[in-house]
Formats: sequence, C-alpha cells, structure tokens
Amino acid sequence: MPEQRSSIHGQWSSRFIFMLAAIGSAVGLGNIWKFPYIAGENGGGAFVLVYLCCIALIGAPIMMAEILLGRRGRRSPINTMRVLVREERAHRAWSLLGWGGVITGFLILSYYSVIAGWALAYVFRAAAGTFMGVDAETVVAQFEGLLSSPGSVLAWHTIFMVMTMVVVARGVRGGLEMAVTFLMPALFVLLLILVGYAMSLGAFEQGFNFLFNLNFGKVFQVCETGASGVEQCRFTGEPMLIALGHAFFTLSLGMGAIMVYGSYMPGKTSIASATLVIVAADTIVALLAGLAIFPIVFANGLEPAAGPGLIFQTLPIAFGAMSGGQFFGTLFFVLLVFAAWSSAISIIEPTVAWLVENHGMRRVPAAALVGILAWFLGIGTVLSFNLLSGEEFQLFGKTLFDLIDYLTANILLPLGGLCIALFTGWVMSRASSLDELGMRDGIGYRTWRFLLRYISPLLVLIVFFNAIGLL
Ligand code: PFF
Repeated sequence: MPEQRSSIHGQWSSRFIFMLAAIGSAVGLGNIWKFPYIAGENGGGAFVLVYLCCIALIGAPIMMAEILLGRRGRRSPINTMRVLVREERAHRAWSLLGWGGVITGFLILSYYSVIAGWALAYVFRAAAGTFMGVDAETVVAQFEGLLSSPGSVLAWHTIFMVMTMVVVARGVRGGLEMAVTFLMPALFVLLLILVGYAMSLGAFEQGFNFLFNLNFGKVFQVCETGASGVEQCRFTGEPMLIALGHAFFTLSLGMGAIMVYGSYMPGKTSIASATLVIVAADTIVALLAGLAIFPIVFANGLEPAAGPGLIFQTLPIAFGAMSGGQFFGTLFFVLLVFAAWSSAISIIEPTVAWLVENHGMRRVPAAALVGILAWFLGIGTVLSFNLLSGEEFQLFGKTLFDLIDYLTANILLPLGGLCIALFTGWVMSRASSLDELGMRDGIGYRTWRFLLRYISPLLVLIVFFNAIGLL
C-alpha cells in the first residue's frame, strides 16, 4: 500500500466543498447553452435518451475512476499518471493521458471563454432593458448584431479570460469556495422560475414532448432535400457521437479537470456517493434548461435547430414578456456567467498545477501564461461568427469554432475517457482501486468495475466506429 500522499496545492476544506467545486466544474455552458442546442439540432427525444444512457453507463463510472486516480496520485494529472504508472508497474505511454488533457484544455477554454463573453454582454443588455417587450425577430437581430461585431466580442472574451486567470492565480479554493456555495443554488432556483414561466405558455406540452418523445429516425438518420426537391435520408452514427461527446463535456471528464479536483479531495470520503450527487445535479440542470427553452421556441415559432445562438435567441423573449423580466433576465445571465466561470477555472487548473509542480512557477505567472495562450487561440472562435464565417474559410464544412468544438468534445474527451477507463479497470490492481474507493468487494464495487472494464470502453468504441461508418 502506498504511503498516504498529500497535495502540495492544499486540500478542499471539506467533502461538501469538493462536491460544490466539482458541480461548479460540471455545471456550466455545457448544460444551459450547449445541451439545448445540440438536442434541438439532433431531433430531441431519442437524442436525449442516448445522452442519458451515456451519462449513466459511461460518464458516472468514468467520473469515479477520474476522482480515484486524482486522489491516489495527489498531483496534477500529468504527474499523477506518472506516479500511478510507476506504482502499478505499467507502460510509460499511459503518462500521455495527462498531456492529452493539457492540450484539450487549451482548445476547450479558447472557445468556452468566447461564449461566456456572449453571456457577459447579455448581462448588460438585460440590465439596460434591451429585451423589454421584444418579439422573436428583434431578439434574433440583436444577437446577430453582437456576433457581427468582432471588436466587442473580443472585448468580452478578454474580460472573461482575465476573470478566469484571476481566480486560478489566487488558488482554486480561495476564490471558488464562496462563489459556488451561493451561486449554484441560486442558478437552480432561477431555472425553476424559468420553467414555471415556460409552463404558462401554450406550447409547454410541445416543448416537453420534443425533449422526451422518442423519435429514433432523427438520431439514426440525416435527411437532406436535394436540388430536385426530393428528401433523401441516410443512416448516420453522428448524433450518437455528439451525445457521447456531450456526456464527457458536461461532466468535465476525459481531460483531467475532475482528476485534479479529486487530488484536492480529503481522504476517507466516499467517491461513489460524491459522484452520484455530481452527476445527478448536472443532469437535472441540463434537463431544466431544456424544459425552459423549448416551450419558448415553439410558442414563438422559432427554430429548435437554431444552433449555438439558441438560448440567446429564446430566453430574452421570455424575460421581455414576464413581469420583473429586467431583474430576472439580468440575474439569469449573471448566474450563467458564474456557472461558466467556475467551469473555466477547472479547465486550466490541471495545466497550472503542473507548471507549479514541474517548473517551480508561482501560480500567478502560470495562470497568466495559460490564459494568454488560450485567449490567442480564442480569437479564431471570435472570428468564426463573422469575418471567417464564409465557406472559403471552412474545413469539412466547419468553421474554426465548429472544428475545435468537434475535435475536443467528440474525439479528444471520449478518447481521454476511454484511456482512463482502461487504465483504472485493467491496469490498476483490484487492491489499489478497492483501497482508494474505500469500498467492500461487494455488488456496488463489482458493478462499477464491470462497467469500467467492459461496458464503457465497448460503448465508446462502438459509437466511434459507427460514426466513422465502419460499423
Ligand atoms: N462541464 C463544463 C460544462 O458543462 O460547461 C465544461 C467543461 C469543464 C468541460 C471542464 C471540460 C472540463 F474539463
């Protein structure tokens, strides 16, 4: 048995704070901005079901594994993997996992900060009363107005990135603990208010059915109307890949964010029950966001497949129409920014922790370095919605933003998650995982290990191969 390690970066002050921080990482733009729009683009119900299955069968077991690895290694993911590779006498190639996470983190943060910048801009728009009494058309035009101005999007992106760097520089615990204790519950209450408003609309049932009625045709087929006006459909595994990728993205898995938070987790607290709470909270927030948004979409004749602008083109209509809308609208976007903030922090923490451990850097320059690099990369996303949106700037029909999003969420995170599952399930000894989880070798442990060794890897591989058309 290894000696009891402790992290040089300190520890969460309690199990409760660990959970809040992990929920802060998981709940973010992925739940409120991304989930509704990809559910909208991929036909709703069946997609949501595939997503929920991915969360339960792949996401939850891998989250336990990631926390376990982090807490056992007690270092940044790169060094945690090095330590565990030595301890388990495994091949050195497994250490690459930590490196993959660093690169993925840069890529994700670069665009995450731009979208969070949109939300920041909307805080001020809501506060200024811009949405009062607006109709759907005006809301769409307002959103397009923001996107078409690279200068202002860049400015908001910059402000958000600076906010992230400041908290990471001060140490994750100091800045974060207070924020997550109050803001996460507040966001939850506000989402409930929005769902209440959505319920008062005639289209609530339609929105509900869109999210929960199964229509597998949409998940397994894409249909295009050709030049001749005839609709042609073909089978595709892509929506399943998107659902799988989103399960990783929304739970912050596959790149070391949850691993690094696990490394600050006090010993002797149950990893299994913490995972359950984090996964449940994340899923409930995403479903609430969907339930708030789709009734508004249908009540106003909007397009569910509107893409990344979906929440910015729907929620302002609701705020504009409800009493106290100026206040609630402002509060909502403030909380959305906080949710994004607490996620963004966790995206760069693995890299910053590694710079501190291996290069003797202090946190301030380390956070600045990582933030500035991601900021530069983010300029590509800023321009993807205006100057570089034209077809001549696209690759495989995707803008730079689409490419980075696709590569990270649908390929790199599932690959990272697959490696985590294989390492924890096959390479790490049973004794080590039992010891770190603090579980008995009973039905709970065995189910987890079975999911991790067989089910999660197989499902990830099937969805991958299915998507590239080999199955
Ligand atoms: N889980 C976050 C969200 O849903 O917005 C995004 C995220 C955070 C992805 C941390 C990856 C990560 F490591």
